[in-house]
Amino acid sequence: MSKPILPGATIGILGSGQLGRMLAQSARQMGYRVSTLSPEKDSPTGQIADHEVVADYSDLDAIEQFARAVDVVTFEFENVASEATAAAAKHAPVRPDGQVLHITQNRLREKQALSAAGLPLTPFAPVTDLASLEAAITKLGCPAILKTAGFGYDGKGQVRINQASEASAAWAVIGAQAAVLEQVVDFELELSVVAARGLNGQVVDYGLIENRHSQHILDLSIADLPLSAAQTAAAHEIAHGVLESLGVVGVLCVELFLTKNGDLLINEVAPRPHNSGHLTIEGCPTGQFAQQLRAVCGLPLGDTTRHCAVAMANLLGDLWQVDGRSQTPDWSRALANPRVNLHLYGKAKPRPGRKMGHITALAATREEAAQSALAARAALLSN
Ligand SMILES: Nc1ncnc2c1ncn2[C@@H]1O[C@H](COP(=O)(O)OP(=O)(O)O)[C@@H](O)[C@H]1O
Ligand SMILES: [Mg+2]
Repeated sequence: MSKPILPGATIGILGSGQLGRMLAQSARQMGYRVSTLSPEKDSPTGQIADHEVVADYSDLDAIEQFARAVDVVTFEFENVASEATAAAAKHAPVRPDGQVLHITQNRLREKQALSAAGLPLTPFAPVTDLASLEAAITKLGCPAILKTAGFGYDGKGQVRINQASEASAAWAVIGAQAAVLEQVVDFELELSVVAARGLNGQVVDYGLIENRHSQHILDLSIADLPLSAAQTAAAHEIAHGVLESLGVVGVLCVELFLTKNGDLLINEVAPRPHNSGHLTIEGCPTGQFAQQLRAVCGLPLGDTTRHCAVAMANLLGDLWQVDGRSQTPDWSRALANPRVNLHLYGKAKPRPGRKMGHITALAATREEAAQSALAARAALLSN
């Protein structure tokens, strides 16, 4: 068992968005130094880090130089190629390791690995060309969703197929690239389990989080979804099974569908802190970013029990546009409720659909927490 990486050491983060920013904030709190590498300058993570390296993820020399100057490398951006994580691994431990990244950055590899581990997934079939798409439609039926195997987020790289005759148009829409066809799940609701696995194999999780999406982007997350004891146990077992089968060191999120029949199916996994886990920052003694730090440094994991009910609402760039005019939201309105906390990610350009920040509301019940988060956000738009 290797020695823990202790405060004073430097955490290297590949990627520079809000996930890296909040990880850097936790690292700073515990007295670590932070270095980030991405193609962007003055990035959300770079604003918090000690060092901001501006380089492309394909610049292997820059990655090696970066890794030489840190004590551990982790990532917040999943689409880093295996060559880059291998280059980093020559100089510092990469956690979770490059193989986890390699599997989860590709929907097909991810589904094949999870299904080989015996975990329950949305029915799917691999697609490599139009003929295999047509065969997949015959096998799974319609409606179905065609998703590119690589580089998808916030619903990008996806197209719905309502009838078999739409196959060739759908194939063109996704740019005729390697993909996966999934059956459309008529789900009751969506949930996630954010969990962490330490270097010693210890696994903890933050319970069941209900997720509501709007236009394929996460809109609202509410902690402590009350499912039956059997369903709750199944969700925990699935999350722990994913972490163990992939050998993850760090935080990982499993996105699940609860079907109308009461079954749980994995939609996808993200090998890092997740948007739905932001509510753990104020909601739990050890939030998901502090947990990620502990895990990748080989420290004991922290307490994941909730202080009270908690919900989170995302703040998208759309909030900066009212009736076609640009405006800066009046943040004091959102903070009128003293149990509401505001997070802004330091992004300069509020484009529609872009995640600019989030609001977390604490309350006595989950319904009240959800209402408070939504009300605080709505208050930003009212005059
Ligand atoms: N097979 C499916 N059946 C029903 N809804 C789906 C399916 N796949 C995706 N969705 C909807 O689209 C959202 C985004 O899809 P997801 O695969 O999670 O991609 P992303 O990488 O963009 O998060 C999901 O959270 C869900 O609301
Ligand atoms: Mg998703």
